[in-house]
Amino acid sequence: MMEMSPRCYFLLTTLVILLITSIILGILVERHLLIMSAFIVVVICAGLIFRLLKKGLQQVKAGCLPTPFSYQELNNITKDFATKLGEGGFGSVFRGTLPSGSEVAVKHLDGFGPVNESFAADVQTIGSIRHFNLVRLVGFCAEKFNRFLVYEFMAHGSLDQWIFKEKQDVALGWQIRKNIILDIAKGLAYLHEDCNQNIIHLDIKPENILLDDNFNAKVSDFGLPILIGKHQTMRGTPGYMAPEWLISVATEKADVYSFGIVVLEILCGRRNVDGSQREEDRHLLGLFKRKQEEGRVVDLVDKCSDDMQSNAVSVVETMKVAAWCLQTEYVKRPSMSAVVKLLEGSADVVVDVK
Ligand SMILES: Nc1ncnc2c1ncn2[C@@H]1O[C@H](COP(=O)(O)OP(=O)(O)OP(=O)(O)O)[C@@H](O)[C@H]1O
Ligand SMILES: [Mg+2]
Repeated sequence: MMEMSPRCYFLLTTLVILLITSIILGILVERHLLIMSAFIVVVICAGLIFRLLKKGLQQVKAGCLPTPFSYQELNNITKDFATKLGEGGFGSVFRGTLPSGSEVAVKHLDGFGPVNESFAADVQTIGSIRHFNLVRLVGFCAEKFNRFLVYEFMAHGSLDQWIFKEKQDVALGWQIRKNIILDIAKGLAYLHEDCNQNIIHLDIKPENILLDDNFNAKVSDFGLPILIGKHQTMRGTPGYMAPEWLISVATEKADVYSFGIVVLEILCGRRNVDGSQREEDRHLLGLFKRKQEEGRVVDLVDKCSDDMQSNAVSVVETMKVAAWCLQTEYVKRPSMSAVVKLLEGSADVVVDVK
């Protein structure tokens, strides 16, 4: 059903009033001329209303579902794929500008053979999932062997480019890191519990957390295992995968575990697996457990940021959230909505860290 805007109601009412007035006047004075003009007015107004309704419907369509693009259109949008933003396990990502002026990131899904029928349908399903903390899928291309996904452009790139820097002047402060953690939790809680599809991400890592120009964090690449037809067999990234996943089917608690690793990385300013560290410190999770036993987790707070050091007490509190998510027994890990409540201060942490 097409929904009518107030403008359409106004036009329709005007039309009816004009019509009735003209007919009455036509009967009273020069009948034929006025009845004729009444019909002309009716036709013109009906045309206008139809155009408004059609435009409204197109806007609704453009607002909710990803737009299909041809390869040629994407070629124009990216100026012949001139600016590469990065490359991941599925292909490369290029910067582009839509005719409307909006900036986008165009992801080429490489090496998956001819496009199958379900691809466009799956894109519509995934594209209909909208939340402030999820990167929006705005378009796609499905032509012969070409699969592309068009996402909203995120000006500050991916989280890994910000948290693993060793320079003091570019290190993110505590408030921004805290907001980022809450944003990721909200995005995941929506995916797991609130959207109709109940999606498990399966590849939560800093590269899949993107930051907009205000450092709001949004989860990217959700639903990708479905789009590439590998949701049964998809494996995540080493260092972020929950232990149970290797021997059984992944549940949303696998994402909770990966989230825990990302939180630790954000708080400590280093990778979970870091070859540049002393051998016994290479695995952040192992080091974290050791420091927990020693009651010295405060030693792990990112030393590249004075602001993180001055907020060490709050940072250690957030480490408790990470510890809660990183429990080996996945049934003991919290749901993402419980994590959101905890981070917002409306619940208490169960696991204790020293
Ligand atoms: N919407 C976007 N806006 C801005 N930059 C983006 C966007 N999407 C991706 N990028 C950049 O492109 C890089 C590559 O992304 P891509 O998703 O292909 O690989 P990845 O995230 O490193 O690994 P994976 O293939 O496992 O997701 C990202 O790390 C990010 O820096
Ligand atoms: Mg990615």
